[in-house]
Amino acid sequence: MDLPIDVLHVLAACVWVGGSVAIVTVAVPYGRRLPPRERALMLAGIGRRWRPIGWSTLAVLVGPGIAAAER
Ligand code: HEM
Repeated sequence: MDLPIDVLHVLAACVWVGGSVAIVTVAVPYGRRLPPRERALMLAGIGRRWRPIGWSTLAVLVGPGIAAAER
């Protein structure tokens, strides 16, 4: 492991995987208890808020990941 590239890579992995796990295990089951319209609005809102975080952490994962692989 070579700091700080690897720290960035692993932190981004934690945010990406952790965020996705939280959505699947917390937000989606909670949404199932809501009426269909509220559920759709809630999941659409979560998707909209998560998208920039998910894509940027994925970009941070791939960039330093490739840099680490080239060492
Ligand atoms: C293009 C995509 C990726 C490339 C090229 C890549 C490359 C690498 C490399 C070369 C290492 C070893 C770094 C070292 O030991 O110095 C590493 C470690 C790691 N990667 Fe990736 N990675 C990629 C995507 C991902 C993704 C999507 C995840 C998880 C969601 C991930 C999670 C991790 C973790 C947790 C480690 C630390 C594990 C360890 O060092 O044993 N990586 N990656």
